[in-house]
Amino acid sequence: MFKRAFLFFIAVLTPLLFVFGVTYKVGTEASFPPFEYVENGQFVGFDIDLIREIGKLKGFNVEVIDISFDSLIPSLTTGNIDIIAAGMTITEDRQKVVDFTIPYYSGDQSILVRKDSDFDITVLFGNHKIGVQTGTTGDLWVTEHLSDKNIIPKKNITRYDTFNFAVRDLVNKNIDAIVLDNPVSERFTKTDPVKIVGIIKTEESYGMAVKKGNKELLNLLNSGIQELQKNGKLDELIEKYFK
Ligand code: ARG
Repeated sequence: MFKRAFLFFIAVLTPLLFVFGVTYKVGTEASFPPFEYVENGQFVGFDIDLIREIGKLKGFNVEVIDISFDSLIPSLTTGNIDIIAAGMTITEDRQKVVDFTIPYYSGDQSILVRKDSDFDITVLFGNHKIGVQTGTTGDLWVTEHLSDKNIIPKKNITRYDTFNFAVRDLVNKNIDAIVLDNPVSERFTKTDPVKIVGIIKTEESYGMAVKKGNKELLNLLNSGIQELQKNGKLDELIEKYFK
């Protein structure tokens, strides 16, 4: 009797949960391959797979919302999105306004230049044009270490909404270098005529974020990440996207 009731739950109610279950709005900025990008009109990538896998385990659906990186945290705060999954680095400043999950990957910043150029790391110190994505840790690094210290003039920094535009401008010689996360630079070297000439050891950890105080959702995501770490699925996704 109990066994039948149990089987009923598993067989009938679990799928129903997905049909009628809760849908979380997951905010991202989809010009950040292999974390998130658009392929054949679909949002794909490591973060997208990761949040969908957590959804499968925990019984929620995912709706991906693509917005500019610097509006992700404000959108979370105002409740327009429920979760940020955007290769977002866990930083002290951001921790003041959102709650981060446990880290699920890590990386450094890097210096990307045109493949056919003679630039090396000194591209950051001369009178060159540097591109960053607005509000990213790359933006913060260039601002704090180069322009605030008057090593380069403010006007030499161009801030982009998407990395697609930044890489296009780099290839078209409108800028000389981009400072961005190394795992993403690596990917661009495979798809565009660009190369990496330096690593800036920032040792960043990536986490997903929820609205400050949303303990329930945070615990759900953390437990999902831990399960995926244990069952090997996280490693599988890392293998799929970063190797
Ligand atoms: N890790 C960097 C940061 O947190 C860059 C993230 C950019 N992500 C994106 N989806 N465009 O600032």
